[in-house]
Amino acid sequence: MLPFHEVVKPQFEQVNDLIVSQLHSDVGLVENIGQYIIDAGGKRLRPLLVLLSANSCGYQGDHHIALAAIIEFIHTATLLHDDVVDTSDLRRGRATANARFGNAPSVLVGDFLYSRAFQMLVAIGDMDIMRIIADTTNIISEGEVQQLINAGNPDTTEDAYNEVIRKKTAQLFEAATHTGAVLAGVDASQSNAMRLYGHHLGMAFQLVDDALDYNGNTAELGKNVGDDLAEGKPTLPLIHAMKHGTKNQAELIRAAITEGGIDQLDDILEAIHATGALDYTLERAGQHAQTAKACLEGIPDSDELRAMSMLADFALNRKF
Ligand code: IPE
Ligand code: IPE
Ligand code: MG
Ligand code: MG
Ligand code: MG
Repeated sequence: MLPFHEVVKPQFEQVNDLIVSQLHSDVGLVENIGQYIIDAGGKRLRPLLVLLSANSCGYQGDHHIALAAIIEFIHTATLLHDDVVDTSDLRRGRATANARFGNAPSVLVGDFLYSRAFQMLVAIGDMDIMRIIADTTNIISEGEVQQLINAGNPDTTEDAYNEVIRKKTAQLFEAATHTGAVLAGVDASQSNAMRLYGHHLGMAFQLVDDALDYNGNTAELGKNVGDDLAEGKPTLPLIHAMKHGTKNQAELIRAAITEGGIDQLDDILEAIHATGALDYTLERAGQHAQTAKACLEGIPDSDELRAMSMLADFALNRKF
């Protein structure tokens, strides 16, 4: 448990219990694969955000527990699908579900988790929450497809990259904090502040993820570094290095994006360092983390609110 989980520890434990019990299926393989990825843990930041947002907005009911589990199921479904499309073989320190069980079961169990999340949403029965979550899953899929289209294209702009990370990652963070506030029934300005906090936190989170794909440590991260380059993904470190590098460096990176593969990793890392591309990526992340914190300023102080502020620092400084 990270320090900011402590603030809502009993509720967080209820969420974890619910996650385990809602994994149930009469089809053994569904439950095995679901347990396989859920047992590996993960940071559980998104369900935490639901709890922190709902509590800091003064929510007194108990739907936030189910909502937190729902958001983690959606996240886990995206990871099962993501590791198939990214052909990744390490996640949360163990073989990915696709490496261990195959692509087909991973995709199908991802579908099971998505639909279980929607069954649980129906049980909550709040149309506003349902709309946010339905829109969110739709937008995440679009982001992943846009990224697929951009893969192999060295002319992808920084704006196009930002749009992809907003959709594939920031949107779910945004949904977590937004739905927490909507549950609590706060006014539009506070609910919007919570929503925007989630958006900026998610942007910072993915920018750092994309930097860590170049300078992270596999053991610490629990996933392989270099996966983005292997797939020819034009993430911000490469976009910046192409723009500010020498002609040779730009050509080297263009070729690596077009062809995919990590054969030229050492030279590419040199170009990334020479152009300050990781510093630039982290600077952008830092701006989003700052903006996220600023969104919390008008909200009454509480332990939960302070934990949300700490989370913005964590998103920026994280090594895993
Ligand atoms: C991984 O998210 C996917 C991204 C958006 C980068 P996390 O880093 O939150 O994954 P877990 O749940 O902690 O494993
Ligand atoms: C996060 O992007 C994608 C999702 C929305 C699932 P990545 O593909 O960079 O995530 P990791 O690095 O595999 O966790
Ligand atoms: Mg991936
Ligand atoms: Mg991916
Ligand atoms: Mg990544």
